[in-house]
Amino acid sequence: MKNILPVLILIYCSNLLQAQNNADKAKAFALVKQMTLEEKVGQMTQVTHAVIAKGGWSNEDGSLDPVALKNAVVNHKIGSIINVTAHALPDAQWRNIITQIQDEVKNTRLKIPVIYGLDGIHGQTYTLNSTLFPQNIGMAATRNVDLVKAAAKVTAKELRASGVRWNFAPVLDCGRQPQWSRFAETYGEDVYIGKTMGVTAVKAYEEDGLKNPTAVAVSLKHYLGYSMPRSGKDRTPAYIPEIEMREYFLPQFREAVKAGASSVMVNSGEINGVPVHASKYLLTDVLRKELGFEGVIVTDWEDIKRLNDRHFVASTPREAVAMAVNAGIDMSMVPSDYSFYDLLIEAVKKGEVSMSRIDDAVTRILFMKMKLGLFDNPYPEKDVANNFGRQEYQSLALDAAHEAMTLLKNQDKILPLSKTAKVLVAGPSAQSTTALNGCWSYVWQGNQEQWYPADSKTIFQALTDKLGAANVTTTTAKGFDNAANYDIEKLKAAAVNSDVIILCLGENAYAESPGNTRDLALPQQQTDLAKAAIATGKPVILVLTEGRPRFITDIAPQMKGILMAYWSGKKTAEAISDVLFGDYNPDGLLPFSYPKSMGEIVLYDRKPTEEVREVFNDNISGGYDPLFPFGFGLSYTTFEYGDIKLSSDKLAGNDKLTVSIVIKNTGDKNGKHTVELYTRDLYASITPNIRRLRAFQKISLKAGETKTVTFTIDKNDLAFVNEKLRTVTEPGDFEVMIGDKKIRFSYSLSEKSLKQAF
Ligand code: BGC
Repeated sequence: MKNILPVLILIYCSNLLQAQNNADKAKAFALVKQMTLEEKVGQMTQVTHAVIAKGGWSNEDGSLDPVALKNAVVNHKIGSIINVTAHALPDAQWRNIITQIQDEVKNTRLKIPVIYGLDGIHGQTYTLNSTLFPQNIGMAATRNVDLVKAAAKVTAKELRASGVRWNFAPVLDCGRQPQWSRFAETYGEDVYIGKTMGVTAVKAYEEDGLKNPTAVAVSLKHYLGYSMPRSGKDRTPAYIPEIEMREYFLPQFREAVKAGASSVMVNSGEINGVPVHASKYLLTDVLRKELGFEGVIVTDWEDIKRLNDRHFVASTPREAVAMAVNAGIDMSMVPSDYSFYDLLIEAVKKGEVSMSRIDDAVTRILFMKMKLGLFDNPYPEKDVANNFGRQEYQSLALDAAHEAMTLLKNQDKILPLSKTAKVLVAGPSAQSTTALNGCWSYVWQGNQEQWYPADSKTIFQALTDKLGAANVTTTTAKGFDNAANYDIEKLKAAAVNSDVIILCLGENAYAESPGNTRDLALPQQQTDLAKAAIATGKPVILVLTEGRPRFITDIAPQMKGILMAYWSGKKTAEAISDVLFGDYNPDGLLPFSYPKSMGEIVLYDRKPTEEVREVFNDNISGGYDPLFPFGFGLSYTTFEYGDIKLSSDKLAGNDKLTVSIVIKNTGDKNGKHTVELYTRDLYASITPNIRRLRAFQKISLKAGETKTVTFTIDKNDLAFVNEKLRTVTEPGDFEVMIGDKKIRFSYSLSEKSLKQAF
């Protein structure tokens, strides 16, 4: 009884939730029946804060214009508001804003609460003193799903404490195009990491089916294929064969939909020439029918207008509106005017959009609001307001930043450095907080220091705090692009009295299109600075704070140590200094392949045919030859892997295979370590991948300690998308690989399916 009690409780709770959901759906349905066309279309309309703000786009304190607010809420009956102009506001101001909006709702006929949405992609944004965690790329490096869960929970708490109940996260785009300016927002190049971490985040944000007063609705984004623009530039076209779409880009969304996600935001770009906002196939046939998504489909910024004036698939703005809504869009992030509202009303009156499509969209929107409890209490809840900015969130942010740190080089065990060393800190990111946090940090671009909390440290500050001012000097001035930061003569002079140079290079913060780049080479002045640092003859430790891999191929060989720090949030600087001086033993693993150059962008799960067949030119590598491979990351201790043990060398049908391996910490330091399991299909009906990550576990091992790690895999961990676009596992021989060990086994169909086959 003791053992089945938790199971019974779970069944009881999920039945209760189901019953509540059914009741909410019935209520939403009944409410829609009472609504006028204008009220329905209003619910489908989302505007930005500037539309209701005093002074519009030049608003600085969040304050609302009562006339504009009435126009939005009462005259246009709008369903949702988002964002704020380029300012971070106190959480109390957010509560004021939400309160004023919901007060205005009282003046409407049906009093349907407005839902507010913000982009809390690595912690709450647009809010002073919110807690920022590593970007998804850094969270992926931690390989720690517990951290993903805890960070999402804190973000949800801070949003909800501010009265905001809709989060435009998590980003589930797969980072397979490192030039893309939103690479940092992804969980990297691997499907399994994206799926696992994405689902974990969804469940944490939407805890207890949104009934929990610390839950927020998610928006999975950006459905679908947004991350793979052919040119590398944001919002430019992707060309993705359907077989690849289903293998690499769709699974994350499929799993997150299964986990109950409440909304999905659509890719602003186009795939194979079809703008996703106009794709009935992707929105209705795949997302709704095949994946069974029941929630709200919201557009991205102005994207319905773009069907007319950028994609040229709709000859008028009204045709664009009808096209998008008929394709399956429920809500339009218009967001700067009421054009969508006016045009959709016209389109319905002219019979271009059916009332049943409108009712369907509105029912979904109302249901999401009901699930969130907005109909019971649309106001910021007093008893959760103190969930903002709590001390324990800071230590979680530090834990996450620690585990993101990925040590890529440690020649002659130069690291950790001695705390008595005389250190010169140089490079543009040494005196910057923005270059440690990246996009969506307090403001959209994340690049304005004035919005950062007063206690956010720069790398220089964190090192000074650790080592004492007498031991640390810097040649870096405030401001990433400050010319003084690249002054080679100053660097040479300062190096004379230093034992080691910590060189902080990479990227300042950017988001979306402002982050577009012609290529991934480090800016020339950074490379020049690195060469000058090397020429001093002092050991140089390169610290990279960047949202995507910038090429360091020319300078890496002469670096004594290289630490990849990503954009790891509020505690990046502390985490860097802890790793460099041995207060934290690094355990992050690269979630992408760090390329050597533009012409050598090959991903770890490549096909054997991606390797060149006849190598005639020594300058061209034969195949997968990144500077650092996917899954790479050093520790200050060493781990030894025993042989892989399988429960059987044959797997059949739906059976399970147990895979175990003994790991020993053979060094003299305690450490965390991620054990990754890959599989390979040796022969298949289409060229199989060389390997695919199928599972990982992160363990802690004391110096000298041994642990057995056990995985259970089944046929799904051997599957791929075949020529007929079906996910299949074909009988035959497979390999399972862990660390430097591998072992073979075979898979056969079950007797039952064999009988069915003949
Ligand atoms: C971005 C989205 C974001 C939206 C609202 C768009 O420009 O592409 O990711 O959710 O703005 O801020």
